[in-house]
Amino acid sequence: MTASSESLTSKLEWQALQAHYPKIKGVHLRDLFQQDPLRGEQLTASACGVYLDYSKNRMTHETLGLLLKLAKSCSLDARIEAMFRGEKINVTENRAALHVALRAPKGTALWVDGQNVVPQVHAVLDKMTEFCRRVQSGAWLGYSGKPIRNIVNIGIGGSDLGPVMAYQALKFYSDRNLTFRFVSNIDATDFVEAVYDLDPTETLFVVSSKTFTTLETMTNAHSARAWLIAAFDDDARAVARHFVAVSTNTEAVCAFGIDRAHMFGFWDWVGGRYSMSSAIGLSTMLAIGPENFQALLHGFRQMDEHFRTAPFGHNLPVLMGLLTVWYNNFFGAQTLAVLPYEQYLKRFPAYLQQLTMESNGKAVTLDGTPVGYDTGPIYWGEPGSNGQHSFFQLLHQGTRLIPCDFIAFDQALNPLGRHHDLLLANVFAQTEALAFGKTAQQVKDEGVPDALVRHRVFAGNHPSNTILAERLTPEMLGKLVALYEHSVFTQSVIWHINAFDQWGVELGKALAQRIIPELESLEEPVLKHDDSTNTLIHNYRRHRLK
Ligand code: F6P
Repeated sequence: MTASSESLTSKLEWQALQAHYPKIKGVHLRDLFQQDPLRGEQLTASACGVYLDYSKNRMTHETLGLLLKLAKSCSLDARIEAMFRGEKINVTENRAALHVALRAPKGTALWVDGQNVVPQVHAVLDKMTEFCRRVQSGAWLGYSGKPIRNIVNIGIGGSDLGPVMAYQALKFYSDRNLTFRFVSNIDATDFVEAVYDLDPTETLFVVSSKTFTTLETMTNAHSARAWLIAAFDDDARAVARHFVAVSTNTEAVCAFGIDRAHMFGFWDWVGGRYSMSSAIGLSTMLAIGPENFQALLHGFRQMDEHFRTAPFGHNLPVLMGLLTVWYNNFFGAQTLAVLPYEQYLKRFPAYLQQLTMESNGKAVTLDGTPVGYDTGPIYWGEPGSNGQHSFFQLLHQGTRLIPCDFIAFDQALNPLGRHHDLLLANVFAQTEALAFGKTAQQVKDEGVPDALVRHRVFAGNHPSNTILAERLTPEMLGKLVALYEHSVFTQSVIWHINAFDQWGVELGKALAQRIIPELESLEEPVLKHDDSTNTLIHNYRRHRLK
């Protein structure tokens, strides 16, 4: 059944949650823990080496039961199966969303339009592996015969954020003989600074773009081409040795001058923000090597299997997705903070912003009906403990409800003195402080003058998840990314929206195409925008540097 937005809020299961919410709204986490001393052990789940403590959430076993009933009534199980079966669940683009096939083991089958796509996936992986071995061993030579020492990924959105995040996250495992840079912004500074200290004769560009038409990426790729051939007396033949492409658009890749033999393909059933386990991960594989890349895929695969098969009450992505719905739609929480206490995950929140907000920033249901309820929250975050010294004040004493995901690892990759214990002490302290706060009586008992008591009270009752794993490895990164991918899908199923299109990015792109000639024209253009836009364009034309 294709339920409409109306049918979500009119579902008995939804209404049961609405009726339940007032009972929970006023209850403090202090009371919930007092009433249920085993809560911290029971409201947890673990799978694939990932431990989720969701006990510090404003919910009871009854809440969970009601959320699970809602998931059932939204046919979450059938929707998961539809995704894994390669059905065209991206209805507005008439495409499958089969990123799970990117990590399917050799010899298995996943079908799109009657074709088993798993062999194609492995053919590309094999080609990537062979290429990486040649670059890493120094067998791939630049045009002047020197081995490659610098890799520059040019891409944006899903063709950048995944590669950047994964490179940072897995730097510990990376080949330190190679230098990696990432260029995404159309602001020339990004490109200029990225290549500032690089020798073109030792530099390889990986132009990553699903469409190979994206303005930012193509502009940067052309600047890179010009920068490169300038070093070879404008000999364009150098391009073949210094550029490879990752794309679905063979024609455009060849038109750019990149040999199709040096193109690594993927498919329209891989969404940009779901593509880091595809050939878009080429820079990742170059950094960490094919074996580690396989481990990354293995991690994704384990979480995919868990999502597909685990009962919802023990299913990590389902639990996290349902809790997000609970805060978003019943508590009215507008944002969600992701706080990795692991410096290598410093770009993880930025990566998640595209994954979550490009997916679930939608205002109509699958059939185009206005939703009539809130959909995707704003995801944001910074690594801990840095965040504690900037925005945590607002988390603790502000007026907003901001559920938080704390992510941490038992073992440090760089053990050094007391650092790791101190880091983890901060994780546990923050979730404890957020949940339980400090009462006025406790503050008074500490001898704080009356005038300051109210300033020093911590209301507490701020919810958080704690996600713990043994160690940040390539495999673990795959699990974490898949955890959030499937949590996002779970949310979209409840909200009955399409998590796999992104029409909202189109209008700005089209308007920019109209404005570009207006900025570049030698004649004063006749402008037909609104008065604000016309004035801004006139002013810019007057004041820019020529
Ligand atoms: O900004 C929209 C978007 O289409 C993203 O979904 C995508 O990841 C990004 O642009 C880059 O697209 P491409 O890989 O085609 O260059």
